[in-house]
Amino acid sequence: MAAVTLVTLTALATLAEPVVAFGAPYHHPYPAGNSNCSSSDLAQLALGKVLSDAAPVFGIYADVESSTSTWMREYADDTLIVHMNLPGTHDADTWNYSLATQQSLDHVTGLANITEFDPAAYRCQDLSMVSMLDDGIRVFDLRYAFDVTNTTLVFWHGPGLVSETATVDDVLFGFYRWLDDHPSEALFLSFQYEGSTTPYGSNDAGVQLQLFNALTSPAARQYFLQTTGSIGTLGEARGKITLLKRFGNDMLPAYYTTALPGIHFSPTNWTDNSPNITLVYNSSTGATAYIEDYYQPLTPANSTAEENIQWKLNATEAHLRMAATTHPNDLFWSFASSTNLVNNPPVTPAIQALGNGSLTPNGGVNQRLVPFLEGMKGKRLGIVMLDFYEQPAGLLPLFLSLLPPNGSSGGGGY
Ligand SMILES: *[C@@H]1O[C@H](CO)[C@@H](O)[C@H](O)[C@H]1NC(C)=O
Ligand SMILES: *[C@@H]1O[C@H](CO)[C@@H](O)[C@H](O)[C@H]1NC(C)=O
Ligand SMILES: *[C@@H]1O[C@H](CO)[C@@H](O)[C@H](O)[C@H]1NC(C)=O
Ligand SMILES: *[C@@H]1O[C@H](CO)[C@@H](O)[C@H](O)[C@H]1NC(C)=O
Ligand SMILES: *[C@@H]1O[C@H](CO)[C@@H](O)[C@H](O)[C@H]1NC(C)=O
Ligand SMILES: *[C@@H]1O[C@H](CO)[C@@H](O)[C@H](O)[C@H]1NC(C)=O
Ligand SMILES: *[C@@H]1O[C@H](CO)[C@@H](O)[C@H](O)[C@H]1NC(C)=O
Ligand SMILES: *[C@@H]1O[C@H](CO)[C@@H](O)[C@H](O)[C@H]1NC(C)=O
Ligand SMILES: *[C@@H]1O[C@H](CO)[C@@H](O)[C@H](O)[C@H]1NC(C)=O
Ligand SMILES: *[C@@H]1O[C@H](CO)[C@@H](O)[C@H](O)[C@H]1NC(C)=O
Ligand SMILES: *[C@@H]1O[C@H](CO)[C@@H](O)[C@H](O)[C@H]1NC(C)=O
Repeated sequence: MAAVTLVTLTALATLAEPVVAFGAPYHHPYPAGNSNCSSSDLAQLALGKVLSDAAPVFGIYADVESSTSTWMREYADDTLIVHMNLPGTHDADTWNYSLATQQSLDHVTGLANITEFDPAAYRCQDLSMVSMLDDGIRVFDLRYAFDVTNTTLVFWHGPGLVSETATVDDVLFGFYRWLDDHPSEALFLSFQYEGSTTPYGSNDAGVQLQLFNALTSPAARQYFLQTTGSIGTLGEARGKITLLKRFGNDMLPAYYTTALPGIHFSPTNWTDNSPNITLVYNSSTGATAYIEDYYQPLTPANSTAEENIQWKLNATEAHLRMAATTHPNDLFWSFASSTNLVNNPPVTPAIQALGNGSLTPNGGVNQRLVPFLEGMKGKRLGIVMLDFYEQPAGLLPLFLSLLPPNGSSGGGGY
């Protein structure tokens, strides 16, 4: 396996043409019967197969050049990551989760006796992860667990199985491929174990070992930034993935914790449903992250969508004001995403982000963030995670415009 992966990546680095819509039928370049298939051709076929397996979660790969697909090119190499505004997507892998997807996987989820539920409760995005990348999203919240047979690591949101075929490893190859096409960009992947999948799902040693293997494969060693417990400059992070570890390896020997690069956001110190978490991610240096993850507003029972949106907006804006005015050299990570499914009527992620029609004339959190962000020109806000990030259309471009690159000393050369 390792040898095949290395051949694939070596060939990959030499790929010249910006072609490959890998979901499309493959047109073989040689006439039938010609057996001189070069190794680079086989590598392309192998990568095409992996990306096709990944497509239900990553999206159908296509190389798109746009100003937003390379927005980091304009920023100087010595820009500190903690000084940047980085847009992210919460539960990024749920973008195609619909009733049709749910039903297409009934034969799988049925094996674990998972009962039916409203797919809208678990869907947080509408556009594929490759579209997110091209639109400028750089931080991805990814939720993994074993499939129903405890065999492969796949993506879930609660009991919502996103795909049976797209494994964590397959999807990583989508990110690797995209970085080859966009070497000026720095990506940040947050991995978190998803609980409440199958009735027996558990973050056991098997899960932890398989995640470790995916994150330390020969390909991962090449594409993940190999530093631990510190966040540096954009120049160091370009063309790489910075791993955001929202998981522990407590079922494995200590080696598995120390051998994994990235930033550790200990789940025990990530206070549940908190508007204001202070999390030390490196106890030797005291490096600290300030986090808002108030995902379920603690409104009185049976509150309206309007009230739930207002409470969430309040927490998000308070944290963003804190990011703009305090701790200039620390990491800020704020979630604008939320839900209140225990409310009656239930408030879905879409209602929180986008409102509920005439019941919420001012829209949802996303619409209401626009006037707030217009007052934040020139401010560092840090990482901001969105649901349904493309709505309203001006939201993401506005966020990306708040902090223009310093002077004219762009990275260039990419
Ligand atoms: C393989 O076949 C093609 C088309 O006939 C030819 O152009 C190419 O040189 C051959 N490659 C090798 C390595 O023999
Ligand atoms: C999205 O879901 C629909 C319905 O299940 C499915 O037909 C389609 O192939 C999915 N898209 C991708 C890229 O997998
Ligand atoms: C702007 O320049 C300052 C001083 O060199 C640097 O600390 C900061 O990281 C830069 N910020 C951006 C967003 O480029
Ligand atoms: C699913 O339900 C059936 C019938 O109640 C039961 O026999 C089976 O053991 C259950 N399977 C699991 C994985 O819980
Ligand atoms: C999966 O693993 C869990 C323990 O981690 C076990 O309880 C469960 O029975 C296993 N399920 C299957 C289908 O193997
Ligand atoms: C803490 O940061 C220092 C300096 O960057 C680094 O050498 C060390 O490995 C980090 N410790 C942990 C536990 O990440
Ligand atoms: C949680 O935070 C406390 C206090 O900062 C620290 O002592 C402890 O090591 C942290 N736990 C983990 C698992 O990082
Ligand atoms: C919430 O709504 C349910 C269903 O309409 C009702 O039974 C319950 O009494 C309500 N709770 C409160 C605190 O109003
Ligand atoms: C609004 O945010 C402030 C500051 O975080 C908090 O003290 C207050 O309780 C919040 N109000 C509501 C209704 O959420
Ligand atoms: C978050 O907590 C810190 C420390 O307790 C406090 O100084 C700060 O005002 C709080 N921020 C918000 C937005 O509540
Ligand atoms: C959203 O609107 C629909 C249709 O008007 C309504 O049935 C539902 O209760 C609303 N949900 C919330 C949380 O306001």
